[in-house]
Amino acid sequence: MRKKIVAGNWKMNKLADEAVALTSELVNMANDEVKGDAKVILCPPAIYLTTIKKYIENSPNFSLAAQNCSDKVSGAFTGEISAAMLQSIGVEYVLIGHSERRQYFNETNALLAEKVNTALANGVSPIFCCGESLDQRQNEDFIGFVKNQLTESLFHLSTEQILSVVIAYEPIWAIGTGLTATAEQAQDMHAALRAHLADKYGAAVAEEISILYGGSVTAASAPELFASPDIDGGLVGGASLKSREFTEIIKAR
Ligand code: G3H
Repeated sequence: MRKKIVAGNWKMNKLADEAVALTSELVNMANDEVKGDAKVILCPPAIYLTTIKKYIENSPNFSLAAQNCSDKVSGAFTGEISAAMLQSIGVEYVLIGHSERRQYFNETNALLAEKVNTALANGVSPIFCCGESLDQRQNEDFIGFVKNQLTESLFHLSTEQILSVVIAYEPIWAIGTGLTATAEQAQDMHAALRAHLADKYGAAVAEEISILYGGSVTAASAPELFASPDIDGGLVGGASLKSREFTEIIKAR
């Protein structure tokens, strides 16, 4: 049975005291809601990871993800954070290939394959983000485009390695716009991505891989999205900054 996951990507938001307050509120409100195989992953700015770790240590279903890591192992790369460093402070996941990293920091599928490798080599599970722009959706084979993101950044992995990866489908046109994909649009893409994984790794492996939906998920839209057979939870941006709304989204999983 694949995991149900609700991840909150805080992006570059919250000052230190606000980050602590949000975590405390979430742990208090959501702890009882997160049972069994379900998981909540908080993705705060890297500077807060160590502090927030302390606030979730008595909540076994809460985990941490960094929002990025270097493709390099170590050395003279000022400002970078390695996967080994994340592992050394107990961070279990890392977002790789978020569309904002692809767009503003020119991250390519080939670079992301390197980041995936270094994360896995250090025992940190990638949450691999993929998705098409509005222009691609209107003018191209957009399902083929997203499948190719998986092919180029993930399909060199072994079966054992791919089983440590979580995939997050985030149509760029739905991120931060209030334009959520319909449950049908998201389900169609998730099913296509699972079939693509099955073609490469076999159906049994594809069935084990969690595929999250991201893009303007709210407490109102989450129940229908998460009820879809191939949608295994969400990667939530704006709504994860509000403890009450994020708790409602966790409950919807
Ligand atoms: O990582 C999260 C996604 O970019 C979604 O952000 O929920 O603010 O649209 P959003």
